[in-house]
Amino acid sequence: MIVMAVVLLYALWTLRSPQAPSAGSVASKNVGPTSLTAEMIPLVSGDEPIVEIFTKAGCPVCHAIPGIPGAVGQVGPPLTLGVTGAQRLSDSSYQGKASTVHEYVVESVVDPSVFVVPGYPERTMPVWYGAKLSALALQKIAEYLEHQTGNVLEK
Ligand code: HEC
Repeated sequence: MIVMAVVLLYALWTLRSPQAPSAGSVASKNVGPTSLTAEMIPLVSGDEPIVEIFTKAGCPVCHAIPGIPGAVGQVGPPLTLGVTGAQRLSDSSYQGKASTVHEYVVESVVDPSVFVVPGYPERTMPVWYGAKLSALALQKIAEYLEHQTGNVLEK
């Protein structure tokens, strides 16, 4: 009996131990840009210059954005919607309400789960931007991004 118990304990221990380090590394991966919380972001009125609109909102943490200094984030896709916007709208799995790239940008910011860009993590883009960005700020963000064709590399 004792031998069996020891064998069983050993088996349980070997099953458990390889999981421990990987669980740890997954947890530490999630700390970082994705831990951006609503409290860390001020209200953006839209009266700010465009660079400030993006940096105040924290978009550069996760996105490369042409023309915005320091916007080299790699968590989400490069925001070159002048190129990618039309691709998203014609994607067979796109089920959102947007019919223009401008509308697609607004939708993506306010309700990111409507379409998750293939190859990028879902539930990562914050869902609370609708409460932080004024209508004017959203308008300016969409107006800026829909014209970006800059060549930042896709991940
Ligand atoms: C914590 C990281 C994070 C932050 C901060 C973030 N995003 Fe995103 N965003 C993502 C990820 C990941 C995706 C891709 C998955 C998806 O579609 O939800 C994405 C997708 C998008 C898309 C769709 C892009 C495409 O190629 O179709 C747009 C537009 C966008 N984000 C704009 C913004 C703007 C504007 C801000 C700031 C107001 C912002 N994001 C802040 C992570 C982030």
